[in-house]
Amino acid sequence: MGGWGQAVSLDIEERGDRLVVTLNRPEKRNAIDAEMVSALHDVCARLEREPRLLLLTGGSEGIFAAGADIAQLRERGRLDALAAINSAIFARIRALPLPTVAAIDGPALGGGAELTYACDLRVCTERAVFGQPEVRLGILAGAGATHRLPALVGEARAKELLFTGRRVNAEEALRIGLVNRTVADPADLLGTAHGLLDEIAKASGLALRLTKLAVDAPPGAHPQLDLVSQAVLFEDEEKRRRVTDFLDRKGR
Ligand code: COA
Repeated sequence: MGGWGQAVSLDIEERGDRLVVTLNRPEKRNAIDAEMVSALHDVCARLEREPRLLLLTGGSEGIFAAGADIAQLRERGRLDALAAINSAIFARIRALPLPTVAAIDGPALGGGAELTYACDLRVCTERAVFGQPEVRLGILAGAGATHRLPALVGEARAKELLFTGRRVNAEEALRIGLVNRTVADPADLLGTAHGLLDEIAKASGLALRLTKLAVDAPPGAHPQLDLVSQAVLFEDEEKRRRVTDFLDRKGR
């Protein structure tokens, strides 16, 4: 589509208040290679300039992403690791101004799972599986799992998953808080993710941005960050309008 350059490994659809980004490298099970990382950086640059919601998916054909491209991984050395190729793009996605939802159908493994943790919320089908097999490949899950997975499921569960590489199915993922919703029929996956984004889209954009910043801030930033954010919102024109609309509806 126009304006998106050579993003062959991503499909990008613009839909008013949101972008729908679909990983599109099915022949390699959406393995995340340098070209896909570069295309994701282009998406982030655009969303940083023009904040919108993001739905990130592998589609509903039974794969989210098989992780970092193992062929590229084999050739990478210590300087490549320090270049933070995947961890930097996942951190950039995490820091996007407005909420992001990952929609997962099928395996999300290694860096593919970490890409879903980089999003704010996750919706999956019953055939989704999450796993961190890195230690079996002699490496560390270095693109966010060591800190984002414990934050999602607790330290002990995260360590078990990181130490064993055990795969988590959709039912367990829902039970342990790794995903927000599951859907039985893959055909309903994107509709459910859009429904969640529709609910989010009813909120004030500035309130969403500041809420996301506050939730993702380090513990030491509270309560000061919350106070300053609320001070900004209390004087925001949209707050006045929304609160007035509410009171008018109640006839007060
Ligand atoms: N990197 C690069 N290529 C990958 C890949 C990865 N992470 N995962 C899959 N592929 C490639 C395969 O090499 C194969 O390529 P080929 O057709 O040129 O031989 C193609 O994608 C299809 O893979 P295949 O294993 O046949 O598909 P499947 O549907 O039977 O299984 C998976 C899908 C995701 C379960 C399986 O591919 C898998 O376990 N991949 C590795 C996951 C992993 O360990 N990731 C961690 C990386 S840190």
